[in-house]
Amino acid sequence: MGQGNKTKSLSANSKQFSPLSRKGLVIAIDGPAASGKSTAARLLAKRLGYLYLDTGIMYRALTWKALRDKVDIKNSKALSELVKGTRISLKPKSDLNIQVYLDGKDITSFIRSPEVNKYVSLVSTAGGLRKVMVAQQREIARCGSLVAEGRDMGTVVFPRADVKIFLQASFEERAKRRWKENKERGLSLATEEVEAELANRDRIDSQRKTSPLRRAKGAIVIDNTHLDIPETVEKMWEVVGKKIKC
Ligand code: DC
Repeated sequence: MGQGNKTKSLSANSKQFSPLSRKGLVIAIDGPAASGKSTAARLLAKRLGYLYLDTGIMYRALTWKALRDKVDIKNSKALSELVKGTRISLKPKSDLNIQVYLDGKDITSFIRSPEVNKYVSLVSTAGGLRKVMVAQQREIARCGSLVAEGRDMGTVVFPRADVKIFLQASFEERAKRRWKENKERGLSLATEEVEAELANRDRIDSQRKTSPLRRAKGAIVIDNTHLDIPETVEKMWEVVGKKIKC
């Protein structure tokens, strides 16, 4: 690119200014279930004016489809076939809510059901299915300016992300948060039940063969056991700020 072009594309007033000519950062956030990733990442994206990608939603949508179509979720080949003809689109509804469409159908109200919660980790172990998801996630990040969160953002999907964050909290605190979340959705589960489900999810997510949950090389760890959401976002903001060189 010639100097003239460079000057044009860096001018904020120029009509030529676009994310394509001056990409924003890719921020990869990973962490276990109920660590508060989704809400904090979404608010961080809003503050930066970036796109927000909740990759857990994509795996949840596929799980819902597999359950609806009675696909054997232990059959990784059948899951790979299922994903091939599937269209998932995510549309922001408000600051904190995303509408999820699967093959054109709005499935937002189904993706956090107890059934999907129960099977999503298992479905996510299927290597062929993950391959398709990873390709779609990279395509979304093509123009940069993205906050993406999940389990393998920094390790597999965006190993060269500009910023990598690993968000964690104690098991007890995460179980408390999950219990509260369920309650707010009208599900009154026993503490032991919530803890057992979370422990199972942690085990599958971190011990699976393909893309297990790990702290990525170069990831900054934020432990938010004693932080609320605004404080967590502030910590993330500080980490991102250190990466932005003016
Ligand atoms: O973030 P969440 O709880 O909505 O994610 C649901 C499940 O999806 C999680 O238990 C594992 C899977 N997942 C994954 O395997 N890889 C990702 N990048 C995101 C989620």
